[in-house]
Amino acid sequence: MPATTGLQNVSDREASDQRLHVAIIMDGNGRWAKQRGMPRVLGHRAGVNALKRTVEGAQSQNVGVLTVFGFSTENWRRPAHEVSELMSLLKAYVESDLERLAKAGVRVRIIGRRTGLSADIAEVIERAERRTEGNTQFTLQVAFNYGGQADIADAARAFAEKVERGEAKAADLTEETFERFLSTASAPHPDLIVRTSGERRISNFLLWECAYAELVFQDVLWPDYGPEALAAAIAEYRRRDRRYGGVAADDVAVAG
Ligand code: FPP
Repeated sequence: MPATTGLQNVSDREASDQRLHVAIIMDGNGRWAKQRGMPRVLGHRAGVNALKRTVEGAQSQNVGVLTVFGFSTENWRRPAHEVSELMSLLKAYVESDLERLAKAGVRVRIIGRRTGLSADIAEVIERAERRTEGNTQFTLQVAFNYGGQADIADAARAFAEKVERGEAKAADLTEETFERFLSTASAPHPDLIVRTSGERRISNFLLWECAYAELVFQDVLWPDYGPEALAAAIAEYRRRDRRYGGVAADDVAVAG
């Protein structure tokens, strides 16, 4: 996991054997429930247990940041009772696990839009972040009411407002200064993005931050996920040759 995020730090990242940032699109809850003749919400509940197992397993697998896609800006289109269940699950997860996570040195961050969330959800988000803000061992980022395009648009608006106030100059904008306005600004870019359930799409997840991420697609449905599946994804990542637009060191030597 690199200490910094900007494109100029690509070589730092390449050289780094620091802990990884793994991001996961937790997909397949509905299909898992359907296979069992259960309502979809039970798939989401089983998904919370998979999340707990994965967070636990990640901490002993050289992962420093785990980002999970809990609720997208597009998920509001789902039936009201399913939206309500996903909101309740975030709240219940924080209620049940916050103290344990805080004592284990986990920093919890929620990325995404705060607008549009009910007061009780906004309160648990703030509580989880405040309670764990001093922790540095491991970061759990939950993308909630998050969309990659929305996050980029919000960042662009925030920057434009600074320009309007005379606090920044449009001509000075670079990739490095722009990404400080993203809700992911405090974390490094993901090294590895995993999607479960066999789907092979990025679905508006970490669009800016995925620039050099390795993508791994696994056939397992999210409620069946856990430390073993995570280990398999990381093993696949380790077999990849990350070049960040450059060439492999061996090829430089051959070319002279
Ligand atoms: C995709 O499965 C999953 C989601 C939209 C939500 C992920 C949520 C959880 C794992 C619950 C825990 C969340 C938090 C925030 C604690 P899907 O329903 O689209 O599955 P399908 O494609 O099989 O229908």
